[in-house]
Amino acid sequence: MKKSLKLRAVVSPTPAIIAAAYDEKGKADACTLAFYTPSSHKPPCLTIAINATAKRRTLKSILHSGAFTIGYPSIEQAAEADYIGIASGYEHDKIAEVGWTVTKAEKVNAPVINELKLVIECKVVNTVTIGSHVQITGEVVNIQADEGILDERGKYSLEKLKPIIYDEENWRYLAVGEKAADAFKCGLVFKKA
Ligand SMILES: Cc1cc2nc3c(=O)[nH]c(=O)nc-3n(C[C@H](O)[C@H](O)[C@H](O)COP(=O)(O)O)c2cc1C
Repeated sequence: MKKSLKLRAVVSPTPAIIAAAYDEKGKADACTLAFYTPSSHKPPCLTIAINATAKRRTLKSILHSGAFTIGYPSIEQAAEADYIGIASGYEHDKIAEVGWTVTKAEKVNAPVINELKLVIECKVVNTVTIGSHVQITGEVVNIQADEGILDERGKYSLEKLKPIIYDEENWRYLAVGEKAADAFKCGLVFKKA
């Protein structure tokens, strides 16, 4: 027996990520996002959605500069990521207030938050407004990973990155759990010869 729940954009579970962009004066701004999804393999693209009715400073900066970065905070950085998702860039120098620093990205005009261990550089290729939010699709033009999160094959490891899982239903942050099965493999038990 199923029950109907309150209507909303169900986003749980999803990583809490941080989008960063330069404003018109070259100052770095950032906001925490849960509305985030990969959206194309070729070219590699991802899509974020930012509330246009709420006057997000980072939205203005992304649309102005045409570029942004996405960084993955680790679970140890939950308080920093949370603050960046609470305070407004119009009133606070949030990145400095949490003790973080930025460097210009290698391939786009956007800031890389140095303390985030996995950062994706994107150039804006499409925007579309759906209801309250502007969906911004960015083509991935560079991915920077701290060596410390790479395994022996050079692949980033979720166990080392420890991304934050946002539980929207209960307003909590969770850690990634243990490996449960092999993708594209465990389902083969149902394949008929
Ligand atoms: C866990 C979490 C997830 C969030 N996800 C989104 C999101 O997907 N889209 C959005 O517009 N705002 C989201 N926010 C809110 C913004 O991060 C927040 O309003 C921020 O202060 C905006 O900062 P800015 O005005 O400096 O850009 C989220 C906040 C938190 C804490």
